[in-house]
Amino acid sequence: MEIKITKAAVLKEKPDSSTLGFGKIFTDHMFMMDWNDQKGWYNARIVPFENISLHPASTVLHYGSEIFEGLKAYRRKDGKVQMFRPIENIRRMNRSAERLCLPEIPEDLAMQVLTTFVELEQDWTPSAEGTSLYLRPFMFGNDESLGVHAVHNATYVIIASPVGSYYAEGINPVKIMIEDEDVRAVRGGTGYAKCGGNYAASNRAGERAAKQGYSQVLWLDGVERKYIEEVGAMNVMFKISGKIVTPMLSGSILPGITRMSCIEVLKSKGFEVEERLLSIDELAAAMENGTLEEAWGCGTAAVVSPIGELCYKGVKYPVNNGEIGEVTQSLYDTLTGIQWGKLDDIFGWIKEI
Ligand code: PLP
Ligand code: COI
Repeated sequence: MEIKITKAAVLKEKPDSSTLGFGKIFTDHMFMMDWNDQKGWYNARIVPFENISLHPASTVLHYGSEIFEGLKAYRRKDGKVQMFRPIENIRRMNRSAERLCLPEIPEDLAMQVLTTFVELEQDWTPSAEGTSLYLRPFMFGNDESLGVHAVHNATYVIIASPVGSYYAEGINPVKIMIEDEDVRAVRGGTGYAKCGGNYAASNRAGERAAKQGYSQVLWLDGVERKYIEEVGAMNVMFKISGKIVTPMLSGSILPGITRMSCIEVLKSKGFEVEERLLSIDELAAAMENGTLEEAWGCGTAAVVSPIGELCYKGVKYPVNNGEIGEVTQSLYDTLTGIQWGKLDDIFGWIKEI
């Protein structure tokens, strides 16, 4: 598809890499494309970064008809820019779209517009250690009417933000509160889709945990509040008696691309990885008898985030003496090594710009 490019008249000054934080600074341009059920996708364009004007009855403002993705572009030592497994984000976006009755984007078109946009904005990819250009594709239902139904009009946008680490703690272990009241998602609901509503519904528990000094919550399943699902906005993995255990994808868990990559890396290093139900009772027993050796969250923003303490029903359990474990560190080193082009791309995950 032809992409019409309108360049910003004045380019912004690039920020100092040491002060980036997460998602506060945006690049000069954004990609936009519209859809309606008669024309399909049309009007693909790159325009100067600007506010989006919406009709007050726009579907997204009332019924939460919104999905998004998150992936990164990394600057290598030789100056080139590369993305990590973008096809997986494109596929997940389409699975989210199907769940929310939003339009899917043909994979080739989604890849074309993403690479064209990143090519244009690539100078914004920072080069300091641990920094990257976070790409945020998102789509929303945009009918100008209050009826509740699958939308007839939608808009797809990609914005980009140079970022440092997601957590102020960086790769240092975080404290996690096990949430036994609110749930993030239920089977049959939208847990496996990356839709805005999931995040809106998770904020209350996150706020309660933060007030008590915890970085995030560990979510239990929505039916029995018995099985572990995710940690904050990341997937979660445990090393118990030498084996890696991670909750299986049951429909309420987001199928993380970092999770998928961790599993492939771990298996390639000879670890046994069990994707299965893991109950809070089994985890509590492992915490009590000392067989829980490591725990970490994994997601694009933080890559791998070690868990140094878990709190369940008021009892605090240190994990690996509050320090980053060997497997956690090695996963972080391998994934970031491939992402920043310091290690060979032996799995074929990299897309160079
Ligand atoms: N779980 C949730 C709820 C998320 O928002 C994310 C972040 O994208 C993840 C898991 C990790 O997914 P990924 O590794 O694809 O970033
Ligand atoms: C992740 O990349 O791990 C995230 O959860 C992104 C978050 C800002 C929604």
